Amino acid sequence: MNMFVRNCWYVAAWSHEVAQGLFSRTILDEPICFFRGQDGEVVALADRCAHRGAPLSMGRLEAGALRCMYHGVKFAPDGKCIEIPGQDRIPTGMCVRSYPVAERNRWVWIWMGDPARADPSLIPDTWSLGSPQWAYKPGYYHYDAPHMLICDNLLDFSHIGYVHPTTLGGTENIALSKPVVKPADNGVRVERWLLNEVPAPFHTKVASFAGRVDRWHFYEFVAPGVLIMHSGVQATGTGAPQGRYHDALEFRSCQAVTPETTGTSHYFYAVPRNFAIEDEQITETIFADVVAAFEEDRVMIEAQARRLAACPDAPMVAIGADAGLMQFRRLLAARLQQEQAPVSAANA
Ligand code: FES
Ligand SMILES: [Fe+2]
Repeated sequence: MNMFVRNCWYVAAWSHEVAQGLFSRTILDEPICFFRGQDGEVVALADRCAHRGAPLSMGRLEAGALRCMYHGVKFAPDGKCIEIPGQDRIPTGMCVRSYPVAERNRWVWIWMGDPARADPSLIPDTWSLGSPQWAYKPGYYHYDAPHMLICDNLLDFSHIGYVHPTTLGGTENIALSKPVVKPADNGVRVERWLLNEVPAPFHTKVASFAGRVDRWHFYEFVAPGVLIMHSGVQATGTGAPQGRYHDALEFRSCQAVTPETTGTSHYFYAVPRNFAIEDEQITETIFADVVAAFEEDRVMIEAQARRLAACPDAPMVAIGADAGLMQFRRLLAARLQQEQAPVSAANA
């Protein structure tokens, strides 16, 4: 049975991954071949030749069209066959699926559902990835874990003190602070303050704070698995909880989780900052710390995935910290049910 919500935009790649040549990536169990047409626009075609199934990503680009390098059948960027060596007649069905794609703020988005419903205005606004005022180094991880387990992790930062004590955490008190979780457009909004605390090790590497600090994580987590966050740290008593941000370290992270298969995932991430944006050393330091922290998540989540696979029927017992992930899981389950409802019921 189809396990994935299809009528939504998924992050498929960083823009730079689809450079010159052909780039293959599996999304929602479907191998897809990405390339740039003659106008530079990204094209996404099923990575399976309509003739005998060879990967089109092993083919050759010819003036914006794609020739399969097994028997030479050639396809236009819209997936139509435009040439078969040695014959004029193009058989019915000799075409490959073409997917709607859109490029925004250095991410390539793909629509895996009904093409007629692919409205680019539905793409989440990841503006900080495209703004010259915000600096970052782009990251990507491949995960041997289902996409929902990674979403769960991003929907509950109480884990930060335990999983990331020497990187993003610094104190287990994070789990004591109660986040506000509420519904958002197409997702969940989470707001968490940590007042009068120590800065994270990650913060002290790029700035010095004389005393205690206030820390915040505000984010929306929207279907199918996109996190858009404002986080930061500022000296305690200088007004951050009242909305007076100054001399703060501020970040506008964007992260996206896309299923590769039912058991594996793609994870795209960046932590843009608006201070010292010319300083490449700071960019590297932050990136290295983020990678170290996300590696800590990966180790835990992949281990969790193995346990869950080994004991699929064992129950899980909910705690208060699960509020965000439960809301998001309910929302995705409702979307999935809606998509799978028989047409007659949908129209009734
Ligand atoms: S498999 Fe592609 S041309 Fe034969
Ligand atoms: Fe984490």
